[in-house]
Amino acid sequence: MSKIAFITGATSGFGKAIAQRFVAEGWNVVLTGRRKDRLDALVNELGGAARACGLCFDIRDEAATKDALRSLPAEFQALDALVNNAGLALGTGPADACDLGEWKTMIDTNVTGLVTITRLLLERLIAQHGLVVNLASIAASWPYPGGNVYGGTKAFVRQFSLGLRSDLSSRGVRVTSIEPGLSESEFTLVRTGGDKAAYDKLYRGAKPLQPEDIAETIYWVSSLPAHVNINSVEIMPVSQSWAPFQVHRETGA
Ligand SMILES: NC(=O)c1ccc[n+]([C@@H]2O[C@H](COP(=O)([O-])OP(=O)(O)OC[C@H]3O[C@@H](n4cnc5c(N)ncnc54)[C@H](OP(=O)(O)O)[C@@H]3O)[C@@H](O)[C@H]2O)c1
Repeated sequence: MSKIAFITGATSGFGKAIAQRFVAEGWNVVLTGRRKDRLDALVNELGGAARACGLCFDIRDEAATKDALRSLPAEFQALDALVNNAGLALGTGPADACDLGEWKTMIDTNVTGLVTITRLLLERLIAQHGLVVNLASIAASWPYPGGNVYGGTKAFVRQFSLGLRSDLSSRGVRVTSIEPGLSESEFTLVRTGGDKAAYDKLYRGAKPLQPEDIAETIYWVSSLPAHVNINSVEIMPVSQSWAPFQVHRETGA
């Protein structure tokens, strides 16, 4: 019987590539997102209702999340993996220029949405001795100007992953925090409000990670022997590395 992976945020970027990779390896998948047209197209691409099930809901909405889970067909109920991928960044400005509503949207999606769905699916994952993979970011460990709340949400995801791992190690459930750096996807268009020039500038000449690189890493994590847990993976393109600490200097007099 095929294993089943539940992948949030599968309508683009990492989530879509993860779904394609797992199905190519014989898994069946549950796909989530708000854009129904994209979910339907991906379900078709992956082989239809026998291989994939699309659940359309906003992960910030607990009632909608519960309704969607109740609608899951019987053959997709036993979950071997949960990939908590849905998430976003909004804005790149300094904290005092940020919109409070955008901050709350990031917290509601990246933190509250992620823990809600994890809690709702946990018993099923324990029953299957399954795997939880959470998409954090290098922003969890490496602060940068303009990262403020986004980095805070991803630090939560990383620490939550390690805490879950502590709670679940006696239950045969594996937990991994995936922490990508510069990666090319719609993420940057969402973050900049659709600014294609900013998107092009960020990636130009940098050979960023591609969604397939993240999918490959997560498939590798899932395919290791059941007694092996990868706690965290920090992954960057070769072109990206660290800068010195910034020092602000007073000018004048
Ligand atoms: N790209 C990067 O540089 C990068 C680096 C490190 C970590 N990450 C993390 O990796 C994850 C995936 O990012 P990506 O690059 O693949 O971005 P992406 O292409 O913009 O995909 C984001 C996915 O999240 C879903 N999503 C967002 N808000 C949602 C909501 N309220 N309800 C349900 N689904 C929602 C979107 O689906 P709908 O819009 O259809 O709802 C979409 O499928 C995110 O958690 C991101 O923070 C990205």
